[in-house]
Amino acid sequence: MTLASASGKAILFGEHAVVYGQPAIAVPLSQLRTTVQVESLDPGMTGVLIDAPNISKSFLLHEADGDDPLASAVRLTLDELGVKAPLDVHLTIHSQLPIASGLGSSAAVSVAVIRALSDHLGKPLEVETISKIAYAAECLHHGTPSGIDNAVVAYEKPVYFIREHKPELIQISTRLNLIIGDTGVSMRTTIPVNLLRERWEKDPVTYGGWFEEIGEIVKEARTMLEAGSIGSLGTLMNRNQVLLEDMGLSSLELQRLIRAAREAGALGAKLSGAGMGGIMLALVELDTAQVVETALIKAGAKQVFITEVDR
Ligand code: MEV
Repeated sequence: MTLASASGKAILFGEHAVVYGQPAIAVPLSQLRTTVQVESLDPGMTGVLIDAPNISKSFLLHEADGDDPLASAVRLTLDELGVKAPLDVHLTIHSQLPIASGLGSSAAVSVAVIRALSDHLGKPLEVETISKIAYAAECLHHGTPSGIDNAVVAYEKPVYFIREHKPELIQISTRLNLIIGDTGVSMRTTIPVNLLRERWEKDPVTYGGWFEEIGEIVKEARTMLEAGSIGSLGTLMNRNQVLLEDMGLSSLELQRLIRAAREAGALGAKLSGAGMGGIMLALVELDTAQVVETALIKAGAKQVFITEVDR
């Protein structure tokens, strides 16, 4: 039996603008994981059996829909490993990550599947290859992904990411306490991404200007993170949020949680990921974490995660 796992992720700065060539910063959330177990199939059965009890799915690979994301991750991995002979294995996938919430559940599932299968077959893959396969899986389901989700999840390190460039691993020199509030509104990444593309196509000057402003915020944030001065990092988060709101990517639920976090003493707060639902994140001092958590629950958060970013 082989076990492998992958972390969730949060985008600290630069979502969406990253699709248009601007930099973004994302961190792994090592405490929130997807785990994949691979074992031999029960006698009498043949094929690749995929079980995902969290989402009530159980199916054989050769019977899967062409666009099933779990099946795609398995197929792409077997292709990369050059596995041609029939394979009889049982994959069980467990995830602590809510789906379509901005926490990187699809990248985490892909990376965990790739790690588990390649290890099980005695052909462990380099992190760069794992990221590349997970990117191919993301492309099948998210249209035009920037590649930041698969990169941060595969490397499991804070990344400074520019589309089509090798991710730069960054050293965060200070403790970062984040609180994540889940609106409970699931939102498939493609919806806000496509909506933004339509708006940008209609008004490339305004939207292009906003993307550039976000890029500047990301660069400033990188300097602060590396210098270990979180002084005005919260202010940068708030500025990033204003631009995301201008682009129409926030929502009433997100606004409510963001406001509640700020009023309870968070240093800054913004949506994280694709927006229009999903999660928001707040930067807090350790001693205000509980107060902010309580405020988020009161403001309607369906789940709250308190997390310290790995350095
Ligand atoms: C989704 O986690 C992040 C987006 O920037 C899309 C992408 O980068 O592919 C919204």
